[in-house]
Amino acid sequence: MIYGKNFADVYSKHLIHFSIQVAPRIFKLLSSKNTNKEILDLCCGTGQLAYYFLTKGYKVTGIDFSEDMLYHAKKLNKSFIETEKAEFYCDDARYFSLNKKYPNIVSTYDALNHLEDDLSLQQCFQQVFEHLEENGIFIFDLNTKLGLSKGGTFIREDEAIFSIIQSMSEPSRNKAFTRYYGFVKDDSSHVYYKYDEVVYNTIYKMEKVREYLYDTGFVSVEFAHLNNLLKRVEEPEKEERVFIIATK
Ligand SMILES: C[S@@+](CC[C@H](N)C(=O)[O-])C[C@H]1O[C@@H](n2cnc3c(N)ncnc32)[C@H](O)[C@@H]1O
Repeated sequence: MIYGKNFADVYSKHLIHFSIQVAPRIFKLLSSKNTNKEILDLCCGTGQLAYYFLTKGYKVTGIDFSEDMLYHAKKLNKSFIETEKAEFYCDDARYFSLNKKYPNIVSTYDALNHLEDDLSLQQCFQQVFEHLEENGIFIFDLNTKLGLSKGGTFIREDEAIFSIIQSMSEPSRNKAFTRYYGFVKDDSSHVYYKYDEVVYNTIYKMEKVREYLYDTGFVSVEFAHLNNLLKRVEEPEKEERVFIIATK
């Protein structure tokens, strides 16, 4: 499921709140653990988290397999690309190979729930591990089963956008689906255009996620609270979304 152009346009303006909110928390955590200012942003989307780290003096590499999402990431971070502080690649989180190691790897806004199944998640962990320096940190968030079981419809209507977000889960297939559709105003022509995208999330068992990370070779795996990454979560299945901090 690769996000298409219209949805990428909508995402770049109306779905960026999460990465903007969590970027300072991740920055604080990583800078307390690691003085090496470089980060790989896996499934970087439209590049808001990359932008935050770039403004903090980091070098950032972003990977995403949607060219339409990367278009926005490159546009937002153009000046940093020109000064060789940022680079963006179209690649798959399961198979990427950059021939380089990073002190920090991050993936936000449940991007890894978008992988097809447990095997894909394990493949991704393997690639991440191979791209991490010794003692490097991998931090990412996941929606839990509890978070993905909440179905419902959310409607937003204002001058810029008329949007409907419908969510439903199919626990028997370990999947949850969200349909994003509506009309959004084009900034230059002021004409409204339609978008319609169905995004799926895979439901993982949190204990399996921990097990896969240890099996890959990580020496420490901790679940952390969304609003406070220093606060450990002992029972991740009781949360709707958690951060996972794994150390190589
Ligand atoms: C919900 S968005 C999150 C984007 C960004 N990390 C953020 O915080 O806003 C999920 C992103 O993951 C990307 N993605 C999903 N599966 C991928 C894969 N297998 N390889 C690379 N990117 C992937 C999508 O194209 C999309 O940009």
